[in-house]
Amino acid sequence: MKDQAENLRRRLEARQNQSMAKTIAVLSGKGGVGKSNFSLNFSIALSQKGKKVLLFDMDIGMGNIDILIGEHSPCSIIDFFEKECSLKDIIMSGPGNISIITGGTGVTNLFSLDEDKYTRFNEEFSLLLANYDYILFDMGAGITEDSMKFLLCVDELVVITTPEPTSIMDAYSAMKYIHSVNKEIPLFLVCNRVFSSKDGKETIKRLQNALVKFLGLEAVALGYLPDDRTVPKSVTKQMPFLLFDSEADVSKAIMDIASRYANHSFGEELTLQKSRFLQNMKRYFWESRSPYMDKVKVLIVDDSAFMRKLISEFLAEDSRMEVIGTARNGRDAIDKIKALKPDVVTLDVEMPIMDGLEALNRIMNECPTAVVMLSSTTKKGTENTFSAMNSGAFDFVAKPSGAISLDLHKIKKELHEKVMAASRANVHKLEKMR
Ligand SMILES: Nc1ncnc2c1ncn2[C@@H]1O[C@H](COP(=O)(O)OP(=O)(O)O)[C@@H](O)[C@H]1O
Ligand SMILES: [Mg+2]
Repeated sequence: MKDQAENLRRRLEARQNQSMAKTIAVLSGKGGVGKSNFSLNFSIALSQKGKKVLLFDMDIGMGNIDILIGEHSPCSIIDFFEKECSLKDIIMSGPGNISIITGGTGVTNLFSLDEDKYTRFNEEFSLLLANYDYILFDMGAGITEDSMKFLLCVDELVVITTPEPTSIMDAYSAMKYIHSVNKEIPLFLVCNRVFSSKDGKETIKRLQNALVKFLGLEAVALGYLPDDRTVPKSVTKQMPFLLFDSEADVSKAIMDIASRYANHSFGEELTLQKSRFLQNMKRYFWESRSPYMDKVKVLIVDDSAFMRKLISEFLAEDSRMEVIGTARNGRDAIDKIKALKPDVVTLDVEMPIMDGLEALNRIMNECPTAVVMLSSTTKKGTENTFSAMNSGAFDFVAKPSGAISLDLHKIKKELHEKVMAASRANVHKLEKMR
């Protein structure tokens, strides 16, 4: 083992003056927007431009790159961590001359590295960085505490949305979340499944405007992909659409996006001698294992006693937070925020006496506190959520539609993560955004 490590180190030193791969995470607010199809075909498009590309499927449990290419990798990242295979051994050669690593359910292991595993990962990943031009990570949908740490490690982020308002809002909220912890990371936007170029341009413009207006954040538009029957057809044939039909509109569009992207980052990669990625991995996954010293104090605001109890129980299951009080309407909430000084407030929208939107405006004026809205998914609910986000709410969790109680457990994890993210938000900044 020791000799091997020594060997690696020597090889690494020899490569030190070479350029390092750029690490890119592809993400979206919600699943089903075409992230995996984009990641796969974007990788192949970059490869057709003469770049060496490694695609890492990070969609925990739902990994589907292997389904898209109709080939099952015999080894995944689990084998690296558990069977001591080398990273090189688990790389599968994929279509269009790209390399692929499948994550499967083992990706959670990346987030709990002990020292031995960390050292091994660090050394072997350095070799990959030296060997590729781009390493893409197809992330799972949404953002959890762990995937967030991972997103902070990579060099660049590509965010995928569709023109649907909920998808745009989820993309915005994902970027807002990222921005609350890292203001430097370059962001690229892609709009998938557009019905016209106007549709695509407008969606991206809308998102860019909101990012600039509320977060002071510039995101680079990479372009849009049409809604194209070629995609589902190629999925059925288990072939990347770019190889299935290179003349299809969607294929031409992905080539354009790859050109724009490669031109944008051209030059930079040649001067990058040390990758931020591994330094960041060390910082976020190894050195600061327990960033939560104090529990996050949460106030729950809801007019339904049942909901107050249920949300209290949900939050109590996460040891990083504690519920310090509940309020039954907006007015009650403002009194309790002033008295109890919570770090985060969960705020229902429809309530008697003073509703959530009015309460939110008063909270931001009188006692700025990070607020996570609990919104409904009706049309009216979506509009309210938009205006709440614009009035300074940190984020929202959509209550599942239908029966009030039974589906609620589905939002538990999302609530935990968003409360934690909100607790780190700079509320005065939120306040200024209004
Ligand atoms: N541009 C497109 N045109 C038509 N259908 C698409 C397009 N992009 C994605 N799809 C469809 O959407 C589904 C989800 O795509 P996928 O890449 O698996 O999304 P995600 O990885 O975000 O969950 C696929 O079955 C695919 O057929
Ligand atoms: Mg996917």
